[in-house]
Amino acid sequence: MKKIEEYVRNIPDFPEEGIIFRDVTSVLQDAEGLHLAIDSIQDLIGDTVCDVIVGPESRGFIFGVPIAYNLKKAFVPVRKKGKLPCETIEKEYALEYGTATVEMHRDSIKPGQKVIIVDDLMATGGTIEAIVSLIEELGGKVVKIVFLMELEGLKGRNKLNGYDVESVIHYSGK
Ligand code: PRP
Ligand code: MG
Repeated sequence: MKKIEEYVRNIPDFPEEGIIFRDVTSVLQDAEGLHLAIDSIQDLIGDTVCDVIVGPESRGFIFGVPIAYNLKKAFVPVRKKGKLPCETIEKEYALEYGTATVEMHRDSIKPGQKVIIVDDLMATGGTIEAIVSLIEELGGKVVKIVFLMELEGLKGRNKLNGYDVESVIHYSGK
């Protein structure tokens, strides 16, 4: 049986020279790869108790929803600014060039709820750092953060000190 990392397509020098792009589409487009990815994330969660799974648009939706379904928990989407129709809270975060803003519905998390965040990739950690602050603003408690892939060279973990962060695949570079 193939290992999960063998399903990830590695694209050198994309989007710029010196960067290896870790392509998740090659995992998704293989039935066994998809199955293994979901099961591997599920294994990291183990018996962690939670009320809600939170996933960021768009790749976090792909992995977050099947996990929520398996655990019979709610799924709360974090969206890029301007997509959610009701009252929202928002947080700006830094990208390599410029900034981006993520939003959540104000009523999506209730005070005291235990939250697991699921996403495909941790790079700089900026996206998840922003999402953690939104969840906490709503009174939620982040009990675990899980990724399929982590680029250790970008030291995203340093932005998430004190949280339980786990990844299925660890890449030492950027
Ligand atoms: C990518 C990836 C993670 C995030 C990681 O999402 O899916 O969510 O970047 O980067 P960071 O750790 O440096 O914040 P992107 O914002 O490109 O959007 P997408 O999921 O819609 O492709
Ligand atoms: Mg993303």
